[in-house]
Amino acid sequence: MAALDGLVAVVTGAGSVGPGVGNGRAAAIRLAEEGARVALLDMESSVEDTLDMIQQRGGEAAVFRCDVTDAEMVEQVVAATVAHFGRLDILFNNVGIAGPPGTVVDVDLEAWRRCLDVNLTSMVLTSRACIPRMRKAGAGSIINMSSLAGLRGGHAAVAYATTKGAVISLTQAMASQHGRESIRVNAVAPGLVYTPMVSTKSGVDEATRALRASLNVLGTEGTAWDVAEAVLYLADPRSRWVTGVVLPVDAGAAMHSEAIEVSVTEAGATRGGRAAGAR
Ligand SMILES: NC(=O)c1ccc[n+]([C@@H]2O[C@H](COP(=O)([O-])OP(=O)(O)OC[C@H]3O[C@@H](n4cnc5c(N)ncnc54)[C@H](O)[C@@H]3O)[C@@H](O)[C@H]2O)c1
Repeated sequence: MAALDGLVAVVTGAGSVGPGVGNGRAAAIRLAEEGARVALLDMESSVEDTLDMIQQRGGEAAVFRCDVTDAEMVEQVVAATVAHFGRLDILFNNVGIAGPPGTVVDVDLEAWRRCLDVNLTSMVLTSRACIPRMRKAGAGSIINMSSLAGLRGGHAAVAYATTKGAVISLTQAMASQHGRESIRVNAVAPGLVYTPMVSTKSGVDEATRALRASLNVLGTEGTAWDVAEAVLYLADPRSRWVTGVVLPVDAGAAMHSEAIEVSVTEAGATRGGRAAGAR
């Protein structure tokens, strides 16, 4: 019997913005491999490829297209998930965007608000829809996607760092408020992971890719599969005594207090001076 047999998971951002495997897709595949039935939420058609990948591996999943910043749509797809699978136990709030570059002085305010909506408020909307269903199941595990940028700040884009830092506080508040309902809430904080968001959206070149890999203690490049294993651990009922933690998945990069700045924005990758930088 697999560890997650009988459990149902919702994964947001289970598609991919380009070829390859992002954090949501990898986690969805691993959750399904461990026996969970997985609701794949994404606004892009690439989520259908994730479904194919899960089915090819003998897993069970279903696609629910939605924009997770739309409260009504989120409620509808979560209701549809429970109608389809019969219950709900795990929520991985993975969706996130790089957001606009800049400081508080020059950041585009409309893009700032969108970044808050996508990276932070969406987690409130999905959790608000899922928690009442977890109560019915008698327990639940929510995993929120933060980042090294949320742990350390120091990012070149104030919007991204702010949202990822806020995810940590959100996680701790949620963990406190829902602990007595046996709903655990934890966060993962990946370091510089090579995903489609980095390769496609942010256009990181090979030199920057190598630099990013060199910034951690192990000196190796992280992938979405590394992040997925952490998500799996926190989703698994065997981590039943773990709540309110922020688990870095960064090959020790958080220990570097003066890493070379590698700022990644939607506008492209830049390499700067001496400051902490992560995404
Ligand atoms: N790649 C890294 O180095 C890194 C590091 C730390 C944290 N993260 C975080 O991991 C998460 C996933 O990143 P990734 O690099 O795997 O990205 P990705 O771009 O490969 O995947 C993100 C997915 O989210 C979907 N999405 C975006 N906005 C959406 C919305 N409003 N509604 C529904 N779906 C939406 C996209 O369509 C895409 O399929 C993000 O929260 C990101 O901040 C990434």
